[in-house]
Amino acid sequence: MYEQVSHSLLNKILDKLKPEISEQDLRHFYTRLGANFYAIYSLFHLLYGSREDFEQQLVRLVETMATQYIRRDSILKQLDRERENDHNWFLSQEWVGMALYSDGFAGNLQGLRQRLSYFQELGVNMIHVMPILECPQGASDGGYAVSNFCNVDERVGTLTDLQSLSSDMRRRNILLTLDVVVNHTSDEHAWAKMAREGDKKHQDYYYIFDNRDIPDMFEETMPEIFPETSPGNFTYDEAMEKWVMTVFNHYQWDLNYSNPAVFIEMLNIILFWGNQGADIVRLDAVAFLWKKIGTTSQNEREAHLILQLMKDCCQVTAPGVLFIAEAIVAPVEISKYFGEDAVIAKECEIAYNATFMALLWDAVATKNTNLLEQGIHNLPDKLDRATWLNYVRCHDDIGLGFDDTDINLAGYKPYAHRKFLVDFYTGIYDASPARGQPFGRNEKTGDARISGSLASLVGLETALENQDPAAIQQSIDLILLMHSMIMSFGGIPLLYYGDEIGTLNNYTYLQDEHKKHDNRWMHRPDIDWDKAELRHQHGSPEQQIFDGLKKMIAARKNIPAFADFNNRELLETGNPHLFVFIRSNPFQLNDNILVIGNFEGTPQSLNLSDLSNRGCFKYGQLQDLYTGESPNLFKDQLVIPPYRFYWLSDRKLY
Ligand code: GLC
Repeated sequence: MYEQVSHSLLNKILDKLKPEISEQDLRHFYTRLGANFYAIYSLFHLLYGSREDFEQQLVRLVETMATQYIRRDSILKQLDRERENDHNWFLSQEWVGMALYSDGFAGNLQGLRQRLSYFQELGVNMIHVMPILECPQGASDGGYAVSNFCNVDERVGTLTDLQSLSSDMRRRNILLTLDVVVNHTSDEHAWAKMAREGDKKHQDYYYIFDNRDIPDMFEETMPEIFPETSPGNFTYDEAMEKWVMTVFNHYQWDLNYSNPAVFIEMLNIILFWGNQGADIVRLDAVAFLWKKIGTTSQNEREAHLILQLMKDCCQVTAPGVLFIAEAIVAPVEISKYFGEDAVIAKECEIAYNATFMALLWDAVATKNTNLLEQGIHNLPDKLDRATWLNYVRCHDDIGLGFDDTDINLAGYKPYAHRKFLVDFYTGIYDASPARGQPFGRNEKTGDARISGSLASLVGLETALENQDPAAIQQSIDLILLMHSMIMSFGGIPLLYYGDEIGTLNNYTYLQDEHKKHDNRWMHRPDIDWDKAELRHQHGSPEQQIFDGLKKMIAARKNIPAFADFNNRELLETGNPHLFVFIRSNPFQLNDNILVIGNFEGTPQSLNLSDLSNRGCFKYGQLQDLYTGESPNLFKDQLVIPPYRFYWLSDRKLY
C-alpha cells in the first residue's frame, strides 16, 4: 500500500543510507521494500513509536535488511525468486521432514553430511538440525541456551561444515531447517556478560530489576515452565546484585523486545542463518516474546506484532525463507501464529501441530477416538498459504494441552483424564506396557507432561524384554499407525530421529551431571548405526518400521490429495475406535482418499455404503495406496484389522 507519511520517511531513509549500501544494485530488494514498507513502518511504530530515537532505529532496521541482502548468495537470491513464482511450493505432499541432533545422529555436522543418503533411502527431504550454535559446556538446555548466535559450537563442527552440509543438501533437493532461539540467550552470551559488568545498554536487552517488587507482580500470573528444576520466573544474579527474568532455566535470560535494538539484533541473526542456506528457520518459544504484568506473558498481542514484523522484514531480504512457529500452546492460540489474515501467513508459514500430536497419544492410550475427533473438529482452519508440521514425537516432552471443553465433550473429566494419561504412559497404570516418565510435574497445579521415546511409549521396550512376539508386533503396528496419521492429515510430517528404527529410551543421561535432572534426554538418542543396519534384516523390528515408513513416504509423495489445501473432511462414523477422514485432490475432481485408522486391538468394521449415501466417498474397486492391495469387503462392510490403517482410493472408478 502507498501511504504518504511512511513513504516520505522511506525516501528520507534511503537518502541517508551508507554509500556501501546505496551504491549497490538492489532492484529486487527495493521492489520488495516498497511493497512491505508501509506494514513495516506501521508495526515498528506500534511497537516503538513512542521512543525519541524511533527514526534512527528504523534507519538501522533498513540498513540491517539491506546489508544482509547484499551478503546473500546469488544462488539463494535465485531460489527466492523461484519460490515467489511457485508460492505454494511448501504445501506440496512431496515434503517429509526429520528432526535430529547432529551429534546424536552422526557425531557432528560432517558425520551428518556423510549420512545424507540415509535420508534419501527413507525418502526424507527436509532436515531440522536442532541447535548447533555455541552454548555453554555444562547445562545448555540441549543447545537452546545460546552463547553466540553467529557461530557453530565446536563440539559439532564449524561454520564451513554447515555451509558444506547446506550446499550438499541443496544439491540433493533436501531442505535445511535451523533454529533461532529468539526468546532468550544463555547467561554466558556476550550481551549477558556485559550486562553483568554493569553495561546499561546491554542490561536493557533483558528484563533486569533491582529488587523483587516487579518480579513478584509478574509471578502472580505467570506459570512455571520447569517447576521441578527451575521454579519461578526470575533468578538473582550475584555479580549484578539484581533479578533477571528467566522463564525457562535459570541460565536462560529472557530478551526484552520492548527494546528495538533487541528486535534488530535478532532479525539480523535470522537473516544471517537464512544466508547460510537455511530454507526454514524454526523460531523457538515464540509465545513468550512479550511480557506483561497481570498476564501469563504468553500469546500476547505484541508477540504476534513482533513475528509479523520479522516476517515482513525477512520477505524483503530473503523471501524464500520460511518460518516455523514453535508455540506449544492451547489449540485456539496455536493457529494464530500463522497470522490472522484471509489468505497468506503474516507471521509463520508453518506451525507445530501440538494439538494433533497430543490427541493421537490420547487415542493410543484410550483406544478410543472421541477426544481426537472432538479436538480436530474444533481445530481452527489453517490459512490458505500456511501449513502444519505434524509430528508424533520430538525432543521435548508430550504436553497434554487439549481443551478442557473438548475433554468434557468426549465424556471425560479433565483432571482425572490427564492423570490417567500420565499414569498410562509412565507405566503406573497396570495394563500399560509404556515406559515413559513424568516431566515437569507441578505439585501446586497437579500438571505433568510425559517423556520417553516413541518405541518405549508404545510398549516395544517392554515387549522386547518379555520376548513377546505379539506385543512386539502390536508396538510396531502402533508406530506405523501413528505415522500414517501424520503423513495423511495435511501438512508436513516431521519424523523424529531414531523413531524410524524403533529406538528405545536412552538411560545414559542419568550418568551425566548436566542432564540427569532433565528426563527429556531419555528420548534424545545417540544412533547406534550397527543397530540401524538391522533395517536390512527381514522381520526385525527395525526393518518392519523402516520399510513401513519408507513405503508410506513413497506413497504419500504420489498422492496429490495429501497436499495441504484445507482439503480434509472429518467423518463421524459412530465407531469410537476409528479415526476417519477424507482428503480430496484439490487439482482434480473425484479423486478422494479415505483415511481410516483403527486404534483398538480388535478388528473394527465400517459400513462404506453409509459413506457413499452421504456422498462423501463413491466406492467401487477400492485400493489401499499404502499396500497397493484391495482390502476385503463383506457386503458393504470394510474390516480394519487391529491397529491398522488404510489409505483407500476411489480413483479407479472414474
Ligand atoms: C523450546 C525447545 C525446548 C526448550 C525451550 C526453551 O520449547 O523446544 O527444548 O527447552 O524452547 O528454549
